[in-house]
Amino acid sequence: MKRVEGRTMVIHELLLKVVLLGTIILGPSHNQIAEAADSMTKAGCRSSCGNLLIPYPFGSSDSDPQCRIDRPSFIVYCDNSTSPPIPYMWKKSSNIEILDIFVKDHELRINVSIGQDCYDSSGLDENSSYYPSLHQPEFPISSTKNKFTAVGCDTMAFFRDPRGKFSFGCASLCSTNSTVSSGPCSGIGCCQASIPRDTFNYNISIWSFSYHSNVLDFNPCSYAFVAETDAYNFSVSDLSRLKFNESALVLDWAIGNQTCEEAQKNSTSYMCTENTNCTNAENGSGYKCNCLEGYRGNPYLTNGCHDIDECADPKMNKCERKCHNIEGSYTCLCPKGYYGDGKKVGGGGQGCIAKSSHLMKILVGGAVGIIVLLFSIGFLYFGYKERKLIRLKEQYFKQNGGLLLQQQLHERDRTTKTVKIFSAQELEKATDNYDKSRIVGQGGYGTVYKGLLPNNMVVAIKKSKLVDQSQIEQFINEVIVLSQINNRNVVKLLGCCLETDVPLLVYEFVDNGTLFDHVHNPNKSSKLSWEMRLRIASETAGVLSYLHSTASTPIIHRDVKSSNILLDANYTARVSDFGASRLVPLDQTQLSTMVQGTLGYLDPEYFHTSQLTEKSDVYSFGVVLVELLTGKKALSFDRPEEERSLAKYFLSSLKNDKLFQIVEEVIANEENNEQVREVANLAKRCLKIKGEERPTMKEVAMELEGLKAMAKHPWVNGIDVNPEEMVSLLEEKPDVYMDSIVTTSTGYADSMKSHVMPLDSSGR
Ligand SMILES: *[C@@H]1O[C@H](CO)[C@@H](O)[C@H](O)[C@H]1NC(C)=O
Ligand SMILES: *[C@@H]1O[C@H](CO)[C@@H](O)[C@H](O)[C@H]1NC(C)=O
Ligand SMILES: *[C@@H]1O[C@H](CO)[C@@H](O)[C@H](O)[C@H]1NC(C)=O
Ligand SMILES: *[C@@H]1O[C@H](CO)[C@@H](O)[C@H](O)[C@H]1NC(C)=O
Ligand SMILES: *[C@@H]1O[C@H](CO)[C@@H](O)[C@H](O)[C@H]1NC(C)=O
Ligand SMILES: *[C@@H]1O[C@H](CO)[C@@H](O)[C@H](O)[C@H]1NC(C)=O
Ligand SMILES: *[C@@H]1O[C@H](CO)[C@@H](O)[C@H](O)[C@H]1NC(C)=O
Ligand SMILES: *[C@@H]1O[C@H](CO)[C@@H](O)[C@H](O)[C@H]1NC(C)=O
Ligand SMILES: *[C@@H]1O[C@H](CO)[C@@H](O)[C@H](O)[C@H]1NC(C)=O
Ligand SMILES: *[C@@H]1O[C@H](CO)[C@@H](O)[C@H](O)[C@H]1NC(C)=O
Ligand SMILES: *[C@@H]1O[C@H](CO)[C@@H](O)[C@H](O)[C@H]1NC(C)=O
Repeated sequence: MKRVEGRTMVIHELLLKVVLLGTIILGPSHNQIAEAADSMTKAGCRSSCGNLLIPYPFGSSDSDPQCRIDRPSFIVYCDNSTSPPIPYMWKKSSNIEILDIFVKDHELRINVSIGQDCYDSSGLDENSSYYPSLHQPEFPISSTKNKFTAVGCDTMAFFRDPRGKFSFGCASLCSTNSTVSSGPCSGIGCCQASIPRDTFNYNISIWSFSYHSNVLDFNPCSYAFVAETDAYNFSVSDLSRLKFNESALVLDWAIGNQTCEEAQKNSTSYMCTENTNCTNAENGSGYKCNCLEGYRGNPYLTNGCHDIDECADPKMNKCERKCHNIEGSYTCLCPKGYYGDGKKVGGGGQGCIAKSSHLMKILVGGAVGIIVLLFSIGFLYFGYKERKLIRLKEQYFKQNGGLLLQQQLHERDRTTKTVKIFSAQELEKATDNYDKSRIVGQGGYGTVYKGLLPNNMVVAIKKSKLVDQSQIEQFINEVIVLSQINNRNVVKLLGCCLETDVPLLVYEFVDNGTLFDHVHNPNKSSKLSWEMRLRIASETAGVLSYLHSTASTPIIHRDVKSSNILLDANYTARVSDFGASRLVPLDQTQLSTMVQGTLGYLDPEYFHTSQLTEKSDVYSFGVVLVELLTGKKALSFDRPEEERSLAKYFLSSLKNDKLFQIVEEVIANEENNEQVREVANLAKRCLKIKGEERPTMKEVAMELEGLKAMAKHPWVNGIDVNPEEMVSLLEEKPDVYMDSIVTTSTGYADSMKSHVMPLDSSGR
């Protein structure tokens, strides 16, 4: 999930590449025909099964063990019960049907199934849904020859490692079929992802955003499959029913798990025969034999590689006149009275030259040489100037980044005086030269190191992973956003460093880990009481409310999630990671942006419209609230289909009156019931599909504040409060209010000022 769950950018309608025709092969292919010309099988061994030719070192399960390598993946089981017989890898129960085996390319084509996820008006149609997987241990899926493809208009599909170590995929959303066009997979209605190296197996998983409910009339199903690049062309009608039923996948095979050098040490087991060359498999696990140039055949058989008679086929030699075949190669001959290499002039040879024209050739050759020399000098000179210019530009760019930042910082606030500019040397020293042991976190935008400044202050230093313009902008954005925020529940920016090739940000160090960790780590979550959860929620809501309303320019965080909420030693919430945040000028209430955020927390309305408003943070915060209530992750593939998205799962449980079945055990007790219900109702309102129906962050913060006050003073328990009543209640009991103000953020207190000013000032 890492790749997806990280700061995923789901581009609304993904753009993709041209798909050309791949051949769907039924009989022996072109390659096989070439190979078939030579004997590819050991004498006395079965050489085919149905349409499949079985070349050594592959062999049929019913022939002698000498006919093949003694590894399951090299065994071909031939099922005679059908006509034509069907070959399977190893045994029938593997259910992996072999289509082709290529020796020269070391490839194996297998038949794989297509996954589908279908809906009707009543929801998921389990009978017509199918999520295929591939299970074979030995041969990696070719990363260059295959693609992962998904088709649908409310579709998110994943290629998942069966051991759960990683997963990746793509998404496609469209609201009508008129925006979709047939042809290459363009990203609209059809999207693709590349296959990484060293993947062997997969489980395909398909997911919809709204059960296809908005697209049911033209797209009831999502499809996903791994297949040869170019084998599939998208067609609009595929949205109603996919017409691609023969997907094939290419596996790379190699011998054993040693390199050529290691394997050559044991001459009895080494498989490459004479006239062959050994190459290591891509990742050094296993080796491949190939016939030397000028030879062809099966490099694994004794005398398998035999000489090609290049002279027999004019296309295979470059001779102008006469060709003479020799072992492994050929030579060209010129008739008497001619000299030269005899190779065709067009193919880079000299051809056969009459002796008389010798001098002429030398003169012409000399002149051409001089012209070429002059040109090269010219090129070198201009190349040099160009490089110099590029270097100069790079230098300018760096200066500009720094200047831009300084200018921005100066223009803005006096608070920026607290942002210190560190030198590169200082930070290198503080982090032991960015030692690996100092890494405390790795986020979407960079690595965070723990550093020790000379004055013994512990700091967190964030370093960008890549040097590219957009990342530098993110960093400068973060400095600008943070320099405007003065709130004790926000991780404080101490300074930055612009001297290095990647900008570095220096923060105060918050030492108790993320809320995500505290909620989802079973050892820690049991220590997180209801009161603490409520306080953390209230503090976080306070920060967001402050960002939305009080900060000089409203700020939308855009990536509210439990892993961006840090906790200090007292379990005080500290919101972090403003890399994606946006400042919203006061005269604009919504902003059109590239959709950015984290799956599971992402506001569906923003996702569909790209219109960013403060209510997107409200939605994400709602998910965090549910996380605090249930102790479940926002998105998890370990849960059944309908429970994967925590928000959906929570809402349906609430609807079916099953709230207390999903509430975390540590907090479900008699005393809390009423408050838990209140918070659940608040979360439900935050998770409304329509942004305008959600409460503002300020309302959320006030409500949580009220609940928190009750949690401390059980005597108000059970009273049904709404925010207005709460305030009036508080007016009568100033001490209660003050008590809660003290534990909340200063930023939140600020944002409350206008509402309860008299109290606030009298309290100070
Ligand atoms: C895919 O489209 C290309 C042209 O866009 C066409 O040449 C080819 O035949 C098509 N391939 C398949 C498998 O339909
Ligand atoms: C399949 O048929 C071939 C001959 O057609 C025979 O040699 C082989 O033993 C049969 N294999 C099985 C598994 O029945
Ligand atoms: C691939 O498998 C499917 C279903 O198992 C089958 O219908 C199809 O004929 C197979 N394709 C080939 C080329 O054998
Ligand atoms: C799915 O198939 C089973 C058995 O084949 C049947 O009992 C059930 O009614 C079907 N469900 C739907 C939704 O069609
Ligand atoms: C992948 O699928 C297999 C069976 O199809 C299942 O046993 C395994 O648990 C799945 N892996 C994950 C990570 O879901
Ligand atoms: C688009 O969808 C409509 C139904 O909404 C359907 O009638 C039409 O055939 C579809 N167009 C194509 C090209 O499939
Ligand atoms: C695949 O689909 C095509 C057209 O949709 C059909 O003609 C063909 O018989 C199908 N092949 C298999 C093996 O199902
Ligand atoms: C290599 O393969 C052999 C069996 O062929 C196996 O016993 C051994 O553990 C493998 N070694 C590695 C490093 O995978
Ligand atoms: C060489 O390979 C053979 C056959 O696999 C094996 O029996 C033998 O033990 C190997 N010798 C060494 C030195 O590894
Ligand atoms: C063997 O193949 C490698 C890589 O393809 C090549 O660099 C090397 O020159 C080849 N050796 C011979 C003897 O052909
Ligand atoms: C290479 O592939 C093997 C499996 O054949 C895999 O276990 C290993 O992790 C890969 N090695 C590297 C260095 O990627």
